[in-house]
Amino acid sequence: MKFIAEVFYLIAALLFVTGLKKMSKPETARNGNFLSSFGMLIAIVATLVHYNILDWTYIIGGILAGSVIGLILAKTVKMTEMPQMVALLNGYGGLASLLVGFAEFSRQFYDVTNPDVMHSIDLYTSITIILTVLVGAITFSGSIIAWAKLKEVMTGKPILFKGQQFVNAAILIAAVVGGVMFCINPADSYYIFIALIGIGLILGITSVIPIGGADMPVVISLLNSYSGIAACLAGFVIQNNALIVTGSLVGASGIILTKIMCKAMNRSLANVLFSGFGAVQVKSGSGEKGEVNPVSVEDAYALLEAANSVCIVPGYGLAVAQAQHACRELADLLEKKGTEVRFAIHPVAGRMPGHMNVLLAEANVSYDHLYEMDAVNPIINTVDICLVIGANDVVNPAAREDKSSPIYGMPIINVDYSRTVIVMKRSMATGFAGIENPLFYKSNTRMLFGDAKNVLQGLVAEFKKV
Ligand code: TAP
Repeated sequence: MKFIAEVFYLIAALLFVTGLKKMSKPETARNGNFLSSFGMLIAIVATLVHYNILDWTYIIGGILAGSVIGLILAKTVKMTEMPQMVALLNGYGGLASLLVGFAEFSRQFYDVTNPDVMHSIDLYTSITIILTVLVGAITFSGSIIAWAKLKEVMTGKPILFKGQQFVNAAILIAAVVGGVMFCINPADSYYIFIALIGIGLILGITSVIPIGGADMPVVISLLNSYSGIAACLAGFVIQNNALIVTGSLVGASGIILTKIMCKAMNRSLANVLFSGFGAVQVKSGSGEKGEVNPVSVEDAYALLEAANSVCIVPGYGLAVAQAQHACRELADLLEKKGTEVRFAIHPVAGRMPGHMNVLLAEANVSYDHLYEMDAVNPIINTVDICLVIGANDVVNPAAREDKSSPIYGMPIINVDYSRTVIVMKRSMATGFAGIENPLFYKSNTRMLFGDAKNVLQGLVAEFKKV
């Protein structure tokens, strides 16, 4: 029977890997998601049948309740609230691993019939249990703080205090010392075990509070990786291969995604975790600012109408305004009159990986219209108009030109190299990085102020007039 369960675990693992591979391309992502979910279903059913853990009525009741809650959450969550949702799910993952570690501790060490008696256990089991519990606790409390920050239940700004890194280091050392003491003599370490759960929870909180609200996607991806590592460790505790494989896949992909995001922002992970980015508003650029050239919807229409090629650069504001459908409509109208239209996607535009791709896919923009930053930059000087919609940092030339800028070195879409730039946003306000954007003052830039959806609808109406 165990052999059959292992065969199903192997099938599930193959489906996870194939699904992950398919998720790397928009065209195959849905199919990849389905394959991975199906793999998980196989793993769950194989586990339940093989281990016969609980009365089936509890299991079916649990599956139904979980599925209904999951379905409602998935159907009602707004695209801009996705990072919060992922944070919460990571937290549940961490909590689940913590509970597995705790349950195994109780089962193996603790004699329920006689609380004073602790069974002796081997070093392997005590190490895996304590690591599972610690990583699970850090993931759980860290993810809840990440969720609260993004949900604005607490301040989204970095919470910094004097000696913070010293305090964090002291808590970490306490965790290591406590962990070692537990592993040396687990039979007498019940209170140390409980204290370590507390230390893990505190460490999760103290390591996430110094991080700024919009850096949270990076942290969430890191916590996602932690939740995978915790699950993998839990797999070692209960010696379940499906959990080990799933956990290591989540752990590895989370860390790769974290690295990709840091690279696209030209920041190290240490900088994201410890610098308190976004705590203060930073002014960038000391040089001449120049004039701002505001234009009306009618003026912008006249410019677009005369253009042979238009490159649309979407950013976070497009998501906030939910302007993706109006944006697609404008692109269709431009194409209809013979204009070449491209969408240029910066890897960290928006607030989560692939944010712009998902938004545009929702509005049925075809994939062959999407160009990655590296594909569009070499030809951007041939583009008549770059239409920047709710993007700011990802088109900020200070990243290229101003060595004193906090975002210096971050690759950007060089919209200012095109013939004319139209920037659509509501005001002169800064973006996530909190720094001024010299693009707005360039002689070839026109500022089209207003909510992206309203302005795009205005442009669409102008095109439809003729
Ligand atoms: P931002 O630099 O954040 O700029 C967005 C702009 O949208 C704002 O300046 C805002 O200006 C405008 N806006 C907001 N609501 C709007 C509306 N209703 N209509 C029109 N405009 C609106 O966005 P970006 O250029 O996409 O850059 C993303 C930033 O987030 C980068 O700094 C990146 O490093 C960071 N980040 C991204 C990620 C991922 S994975 N994507 C993760 C962490 C951090 P107004 O208020 O004047 O309208």
